[in-house]
Amino acid sequence: MTQDELKALVGRAALAYVEPGSVVGVGTGSTVNCFIDALATMKDRITGAVSSSEKSSDRLRMHGIRVLDANTVDEVRVYIDGADEIDHAGNMIKGGGAALTREKIVADRAERFICIADQSKLVTTLGAFPLPVEVIPMAAAQIARKLRALGGEPTLRHGVVTDNGCHIIDVRGLSITDPAAMECEINQWPGVVTVGIFARNRASICLLGTADGVKTLDFGGASKTA
Ligand code: 5RP
Repeated sequence: MTQDELKALVGRAALAYVEPGSVVGVGTGSTVNCFIDALATMKDRITGAVSSSEKSSDRLRMHGIRVLDANTVDEVRVYIDGADEIDHAGNMIKGGGAALTREKIVADRAERFICIADQSKLVTTLGAFPLPVEVIPMAAAQIARKLRALGGEPTLRHGVVTDNGCHIIDVRGLSITDPAAMECEINQWPGVVTVGIFARNRASICLLGTADGVKTLDFGGASKTA
């Protein structure tokens, strides 16, 4: 199966986690686009969606799915999103599509994070994929210095302005052996909007597209660290 076929497979498989009558949290990216296309088949059975990006909102609306303001919604039962990397505990690197901040906001609203990914995303240790960090533009040079001190090689993602009007620094060369600790450390630097480590909001379940079909990785327990 091609990577696109695997993405379509897990996008459809995620429908099993959508509860009729509920509000669905929707992520961003090519795998999520497959999920949105599948969600269109049950659009009359859900209340609507809380979206993590303008791109996903546009696609949801194109299918006639209601996009709701996160502030007006009482409950988001599941959040369905892809990942750039996911480890065997459900920790992830996200932000390849520059939507990490809104993704983390919606993930934090949801009771469960269902990650949909093809098998190439499963890793032993996070960090081969360059870690995205969304930053306030005036703090970019200072944050880059701090990232170098951590052993990373930061580069500004040229020409990218996020939905929040901010910039993205991509960091190569990090071996993220303690995702929760690194997430906490980078997140508290002045000018960091969000770091693309999702450990405090890790996945509850990953639907992994493999040559043998969809493999369900259940990481157990709640996906959120208080
Ligand atoms: C966007 C993300 C995406 O979930 C991540 O980049 C995976 O995307 P794709 O499904 O296209 O591989 O974090 O900010």
